[in-house]
Amino acid sequence: MAAATPLDQLDPISARIYGTTGYPHDAWTRLRREDPVHWTQPEGYQPFWSVTKHADIIEVSKQPELFQSAGRFILFPNALAPGAGGSEDGAASQDPPLRMLVNMDPPEHRSYRKLVSPWFTPRMVKRLEAQLEVITAEMFDDLEGERELDFVTEVAAIQPLRMITAMLGIERKDEQFVLRVTNENFGLEDPEFQREGEKPEDRLGFLTEAAGFLNAIFDDRRRSPREDLSSVLANATIDGAPVPPFELFSLAFLVMVAGHDTTRNAISNGMLAFFEHPAELEKLRRDPGLVGTAADEVVRWTTPVNHFSRTATRDTELRGKQIRAGDSVALFYASANRDEEIFEDPFTFRIDRDPNPHLGFGVGEHFCLGASLARMDLRVFWRQFVERVESIEPAGPHELLHSSFVGGPKHVPVRMRVRPR
Ligand code: HEM
Repeated sequence: MAAATPLDQLDPISARIYGTTGYPHDAWTRLRREDPVHWTQPEGYQPFWSVTKHADIIEVSKQPELFQSAGRFILFPNALAPGAGGSEDGAASQDPPLRMLVNMDPPEHRSYRKLVSPWFTPRMVKRLEAQLEVITAEMFDDLEGERELDFVTEVAAIQPLRMITAMLGIERKDEQFVLRVTNENFGLEDPEFQREGEKPEDRLGFLTEAAGFLNAIFDDRRRSPREDLSSVLANATIDGAPVPPFELFSLAFLVMVAGHDTTRNAISNGMLAFFEHPAELEKLRRDPGLVGTAADEVVRWTTPVNHFSRTATRDTELRGKQIRAGDSVALFYASANRDEEIFEDPFTFRIDRDPNPHLGFGVGEHFCLGASLARMDLRVFWRQFVERVESIEPAGPHELLHSSFVGGPKHVPVRMRVRPR
């Protein structure tokens, strides 16, 4: 169908498309072939360059001074209020609602990243593995027997949420609050996560609630520090001075929400991939040793973070196109992860794919801080899943999130039988 559409009419960004038909892979396949760096002007958005090839995303990401993250770092529609990364006319907001790693640039970005990076090294993550095994086993204990349930809210969301809240020292009773503000954050364009009668400009109310919540935790950890990441954040300094409150909240909020929503989408969308490719699930059941490559193939296949955007700081060229200072450059990771020049049979889901140089975690300066944690979450999840889940099948149609920033299903009804430990 997309083959008949003129390139200028392809729309790779409207949340509605993602919520109804999913990631626009047909459009990206054409763009990769016919115009890999494509000036895109969809209705309701400020224009941007769609970058769809693996090599070009790497080239942009490795030059953070030339392609900065400050400014328009996510492509929101013009209709979203100022402060949501855009303004009424869609121009880059000078007043972002958060100042966090993903919209900071070097050298400031490096100082902030150093505050939290020791908690996410492969060695540190390895030390959390035993705790994650317990969290995952207890989650499956609670689901023992046969029942119909929502695989997203009752399974996929739970394990990564419990891991990141445990790291931050957030109590179990506050888990649902964290889940709600996360959903409102990533579901900005999804009707399910908007409140009754809410105007676009009021949609960021959850940030005020989250700030109150996290600031209370920081106050507590300044009085009595513990062995958790919140204590490190609360008492952090940069160049000898305490981190300013706005930047501190932004950093903690990013870790809290990015630390589980993405992994949840990888698990739930991964489940849909296994439904479509039952032989791959059988392969994993026969050889659970494949969980490592399976984790990466799930991230490649599902690409839970679909895009981030950069702004050119001076005139430059990319694949022969003249990029002007101030232009937005959208990095479509999901397209790069189907690039025929990089992946053999990119549209085949193969859990033993190796090597798998996907860009699901980004690349360069902003490479995902939580990649080791996410990989471990996914390995532990799928290993225990094949041990405990005797049978699972869809019990109704799934529903997709209306968002072109992060992607995955919101609800996946299943019938599932879990055996006791
Ligand atoms: C499957 C799960 C995950 C996926 C697909 C994913 C994807 C990504 C991507 C694509 C970026 C690059 C942003 C950019 O280019 O500007 C990123 C950055 C980031 N991710 Fe993840 N992520 C995942 C899990 C996690 C987890 C578990 C955490 C835990 C805290 C995390 C925290 C972050 C942070 C803090 C950044 C910003 C890094 C920076 O700007 O320096 N992510 N992630």
